[in-house]
Amino acid sequence: MIDKIKERIAEAEAFKAHTKEEIEAFRIKFLGKKGLLNDYFAEFKNVPNDQKKEFGQIINKLKSTAEDKVSALKEELESKEEVKGMYGDLSRPGEPVAIGARHPISLVKNQIIDIFSRIGFNVSEGPEIEDDWHNFTALNLPEYHPARDMQDTFFIQTDPDILLRTHTSSVQVRYMENNKPPIRTISPGRVYRNEAISSRSHCFFHQVEGLYIDKDVSFADLKQTLQYFTTEMFGKSKIRLRPSYFPFTEPSAEVDVYWGLETEIDHRITKGTGWLEIMGCGMVDPNVLENCGIDSKVYSGFAFGMGIDRIAMLLHQIGDIRLLSENDVRFLEQFKSAL
Ligand code: PHE
Repeated sequence: MIDKIKERIAEAEAFKAHTKEEIEAFRIKFLGKKGLLNDYFAEFKNVPNDQKKEFGQIINKLKSTAEDKVSALKEELESKEEVKGMYGDLSRPGEPVAIGARHPISLVKNQIIDIFSRIGFNVSEGPEIEDDWHNFTALNLPEYHPARDMQDTFFIQTDPDILLRTHTSSVQVRYMENNKPPIRTISPGRVYRNEAISSRSHCFFHQVEGLYIDKDVSFADLKQTLQYFTTEMFGKSKIRLRPSYFPFTEPSAEVDVYWGLETEIDHRITKGTGWLEIMGCGMVDPNVLENCGIDSKVYSGFAFGMGIDRIAMLLHQIGDIRLLSENDVRFLEQFKSAL
């Protein structure tokens, strides 16, 4: 009999349960009114006196083992349920994560950076709140120079020397002041001009300007670089340079890409000419090099600048520049599939 009870103790110790029902069945079997323990207790009076002590101890052991088991299993199950309550059904498939989209300005900016970094240009950035020197004077636009009117400027009211940069050429000035040639850098960033807001123009927009300074840099290098860019960016390699004027470059040119006249859209965006103006460029004026501490007898270079917003509008057929800064998710969501 005692061996039998020992087996029951081992059985109780080894018992495992995953549900309330299993634990309850175990409890009834061992501790219930008609359970094993009561049977053994009933048996007690038939046990010979000399064995009563041992028998008593062993059934008490069985009782405490079974009771401990039931409370341990219950506790375990409850703690699992708590975790479940906290996280819901852990076996349920995951919630889809809402994936955002890159802003079209960032998409185009990154594309431009990519293209120029492949030919050795690094990226430089500078402050949006600039001083007169970096935005104008160093760039060959002294005070009262009429060309300052080309870019209507926002001044910081209390100090006429401090303004919102009108182009990222200011970053190029800073870069030249702090680095020795050879220089190959592009400067992306936001710029500000005091212009009436319409579907075609805004009081802030984005530019990427490029600067290349070394010995013997020629206009041919400039044209080659731009042609490489338009081929990579638009898949169009036919360009033309129209004479133009910028105070900081001499000679200066406006760059047109031959877009073609294949579709109705081509006709509309090129006004029926097939040509599209995409940026300004030129050979850096020797005065600018000298202003920035670079010897213009030894070094020469070229610079170019383009508007990211216009290019984004062109590539993604966005009809109104204001969409780019309104943060309307219905608009922004449409760029999910673009890289
Ligand atoms: N800074 C000029 C602008 O904002 C663009 C430009 C840059 C032109 C470099 C020539 C050379 O319009």
